[in-house]
Amino acid sequence: MRKLSFFILLFGLVLSLCPALRADEGMWLPSLIEQGHIKDMRAKGFRLKAQDLYAVNRASLKDAIVRFGSGCTGELISDQGLLITNHHCGYGQIQQHSSVEHDYLTDGFAAMNRDEELPNPGLTVSFLVEMRDVTDSILKGVTNTMDETERQQIVEANKKEVVGSATEGNHYRASVEALYYGNQYFLFVYEVFEDVRLVFAPPSAVGKFGGDTDNWMWPRHTGDFSIFRVYASPDNKPAPYSPDNVPYVPKKSFTISLKGIRPGDFTFVYGFPGRTYQYLHSEAVRYIQEKSDPHKVRLRTLRLEVMNRAQAADPAVRIQYAAKNANVSNAWKKWQGEMKGLKRLGTVAKKQAFERRFEAWAADKPEYAGVTERLARLYDSLEPYAFARDYHTEAVLAIELFRFAGTFAGVEEWTPEAIEQVRKRSAAFFKDYVPAIDRETARRLLEEYERHVPESFRPQGGKIDVGAIFDSTLLVDSVRVGRLLAEGDTAAVRRIVDSDAAVRAFRAFTAVYKTRIEPAYKELNGQIDRLYRTYMRGMMEMPGAGKAFYPDANSTLRIAYGKVEGYRPVDAVVYEPVSTLEGVMEKDNPEIYDYNVPARLRRLYETKDYGRWAVNGTVPVAFIATNHTTGGNSGSPVLNGRGELIGVNFDRCWEGTMSDLEYDPEVCRNIALDIRYALFLIDRVGGAGYLLDEMKFAE
Ligand code: ARG
Ligand code: GLU
Repeated sequence: MRKLSFFILLFGLVLSLCPALRADEGMWLPSLIEQGHIKDMRAKGFRLKAQDLYAVNRASLKDAIVRFGSGCTGELISDQGLLITNHHCGYGQIQQHSSVEHDYLTDGFAAMNRDEELPNPGLTVSFLVEMRDVTDSILKGVTNTMDETERQQIVEANKKEVVGSATEGNHYRASVEALYYGNQYFLFVYEVFEDVRLVFAPPSAVGKFGGDTDNWMWPRHTGDFSIFRVYASPDNKPAPYSPDNVPYVPKKSFTISLKGIRPGDFTFVYGFPGRTYQYLHSEAVRYIQEKSDPHKVRLRTLRLEVMNRAQAADPAVRIQYAAKNANVSNAWKKWQGEMKGLKRLGTVAKKQAFERRFEAWAADKPEYAGVTERLARLYDSLEPYAFARDYHTEAVLAIELFRFAGTFAGVEEWTPEAIEQVRKRSAAFFKDYVPAIDRETARRLLEEYERHVPESFRPQGGKIDVGAIFDSTLLVDSVRVGRLLAEGDTAAVRRIVDSDAAVRAFRAFTAVYKTRIEPAYKELNGQIDRLYRTYMRGMMEMPGAGKAFYPDANSTLRIAYGKVEGYRPVDAVVYEPVSTLEGVMEKDNPEIYDYNVPARLRRLYETKDYGRWAVNGTVPVAFIATNHTTGGNSGSPVLNGRGELIGVNFDRCWEGTMSDLEYDPEVCRNIALDIRYALFLIDRVGGAGYLLDEMKFAE
């Protein structure tokens, strides 16, 4: 017995990466760098102090970084509020300002002076004012023996108090976030600005160059950036849009490095990564790799087949479905990379080995013993619900008509305001809706749904007749919907909505989901989360498990660091870490929408008229590095050892997309736009060189 566990231990040590860390893995909390990774960072090429990254009582680099909207990062590049993020992060705003006369998606946009900068209602940017460990305050009154409901009540009450006192007497917003599955809590205080105006966007042919074909891939040649400006009240405070607002003067803005980068150079990424799952149990990873990802990919393949065919046949449809297609395609492609990466790394087996090692260690510790086995059993119970839930979101709710019906179904009372809301939503819906696409998609998705989802998780009444729903519903017909909403008689609206086939179908699916899937799913997940709290604590206590833990990403500010480096994607192929304009022109093809280089850039290439942006006879475009990033890091500053801006993060390499679950230093790479390509485009292609006057450069 002893011998066996010793063997398991050794085996585990060799095989396991979880949670022992390898080089370049990790998304670190900025406020803890000082007592943590500053030494390692400096050894690898960082030249500043921890205080330069994060400080509360004086300006530091964190003051130049924002959460852009809800899902991206952006950074300040002038002391007049100028901000850079990705083109795909500003896409919604650029599209919103576009019309047939002003097609900023196709032609790009450049404000020629402050008056031409375009306001974006609803868009906010959030600066982190302060972050602080508040674990003691949050767990005040919590005991080890109390039941979970009671614990949650106390934690929620304490959170309210902590947030309340952090925002008392100021204009800040705050939130308390759990780290390490609730073993630690941090307070995050933000200053949120609401007047953010569009300043510059390259043509989509540059900003989305390569489209979904190149998405998640290296070598990459996308000029994925856009420029905004943050405005504030005359006293430099957040304020809603007003013509009297003035450019915000940030505490800090980035100096832009024109020195360029070389393979091996130290870099770090400072931004807001969304979600990662580094400490997941082997059963959860197995579910993702063997069931969830494959099914979701299949369902999305069906949708993309229908969309692609319709879009290829009609240029108007290509535009109508462009954003939808990109959305569906993005995760579709990522999941495929993730499945492949997990399989190649053998993550499940490694985790299983680690779990055996954990149990061997925990055998004489009642607090921890059996935790991983209990997790395994819970995941076993969870699986049917998780699977039905996956189909609910990826099949049922992927039907545009059903989601639209949800708007109607959700109205409790048809007041004039409610009608106005639905009217707005309808206008947006019909602008980009092609019923034939949706009908074909629905037919195929529901076929899959009926094949794979057990009857007990489906609405009663047998096979769903997609044809009959689409034939009889009002909601595919903009004229009839318009007429319905114009009717003043709210009782009549209610009656018609209630009897509509699509609304009824939506309600039937929702009812099943809400009664037979979601409650059990939530209940089991609650139990799982609770066990993770224990498991996580155990992992951190267990000797030899590696001491450099980092909390999973949760849309809070993090630092990842690494170096500029290529990789080997497959046998016999080596990727260089830097791409140039030569590659843009190699891909140039006027016949293919996504590769149609704008004429102006093509001309510059022919005359090699790059001005000060020429580097070895070409222009650098993008580079890859070993920084550990994820969704949400889009738009993040990529910085050199001096904290100068060298690039803007916009993607990850496909072979490394499993890094949300397991990071592999061999192939995990973030993809950044070389800042010099952005400057070249602003200056030589966009004709907005005047913007450079307010930036600071390090030559
Ligand atoms: N893959 C990048 C990210 O996850 C870019 C997505 C937008 N671009 C696209 N072609 N769909 O968000
Ligand atoms: N494009 C992603 C984003 O929007 C970043 C890619 C990733 O690392 O997932 O945040």
